Amino acid sequence: MSNPSLLILPGDGIGPEVMAEVRKIIGWFDARRGLKFDVSEDLVGGAAYDVHGTPLTDETMAKAQEADAVLLGAVGGPKYDSLDFSVKPERGLLRLRKEMDLYANLRPAQCFDALADFSSLKKDIVAGLDIMIVRELTSGIYFGEPRGIIKEGNERVGINTQRYTESEIARVARSAFELARKRGNKVCSMEKANVMESGILWRDVVQEVHDAEYPDVELSHMYADAGAMQLVRAPKQFDVIVTDNLFGDLLSDAAAMLTGSLGMLPSASLGAPMANGRPKALYEPVHGSAPDIAGQGKANPCACILSFAMALRYSFDQGEEATRLERAVEMVLADGVRTADLMQAGDTAPASTSDMGDAVIAALDASL
Ligand code: IPM
Ligand code: MG
Repeated sequence: MSNPSLLILPGDGIGPEVMAEVRKIIGWFDARRGLKFDVSEDLVGGAAYDVHGTPLTDETMAKAQEADAVLLGAVGGPKYDSLDFSVKPERGLLRLRKEMDLYANLRPAQCFDALADFSSLKKDIVAGLDIMIVRELTSGIYFGEPRGIIKEGNERVGINTQRYTESEIARVARSAFELARKRGNKVCSMEKANVMESGILWRDVVQEVHDAEYPDVELSHMYADAGAMQLVRAPKQFDVIVTDNLFGDLLSDAAAMLTGSLGMLPSASLGAPMANGRPKALYEPVHGSAPDIAGQGKANPCACILSFAMALRYSFDQGEEATRLERAVEMVLADGVRTADLMQAGDTAPASTSDMGDAVIAALDASL
């Protein structure tokens, strides 16, 4: 049997630097744990535009469809700001999500003990925080039709459409309930049923799926604006939050910042199972391409490393090895290794991107 395949798309900005550290980690699991992957690499985002004039070629799209998992760094940068909307780096990422039908976007917001002081909130409000936002990723206002900028009389009108079918809501609700059963067994669903019909349908369908299939899971509903408030007031009340594409975009950024360390957060985008039983999957750090520090060896590779840990868990059924990698990262933080984004007053020189990768490797060695 051939090895599982992993397509690496480093992308733009700090993407290639953090991905170089992930490749070290992949090498370690190969050499020390016998986990073999067929790794290939390709271009996405501005890097693809520079070579091919498009942020994602059809060939790369086809490779992503066939890969057992895709690992992406980051896309975008000021260099591409003036490009036409249709070829902007972000369009490459959105095409991957849409064509692979990656409807469930898992964004953990976890506060590492060693980093609780970094939050803008008080330490006791965030210490031990561990929530999972499940964001619907392939529908809603990001993709709804009609859309565009049209002319109406003398003025232009910008149009986007929020649209959800029952089945789109039901499948992401199932993802959230399944996850909750493996965690704290609680789901909070967020929409704006007070102003949007799509929100009314969202609330109804989530409740129906719950009552029919997951009555054992504790379900609550919140308006998304109140949810945002509760997230910063008392985030530890939540276990799994399920919400639509746009609210999920906003709420997950807010939740990420609660942890004080955007450079630490991974994500997984999962679709339906393929013929081999694995879900279609793309893993990426929550942080962006950080063009201001790109190419300087300052970036924190942990979010991308932890994204690979999510791949081990959700795509390759290697939960124990995933935990080993997550523990290694925690250990490195506890030992005080800090990239520039994690420095505090009085700290000495920061660890570079590759120092951090090497420290994780050393912690992995120590785990054997
Ligand atoms: C995210 C990003 C993307 C989004 C952009 C880069 C298209 O903000 O993954 O949260 O809006 O979904
Ligand atoms: Mg976002």
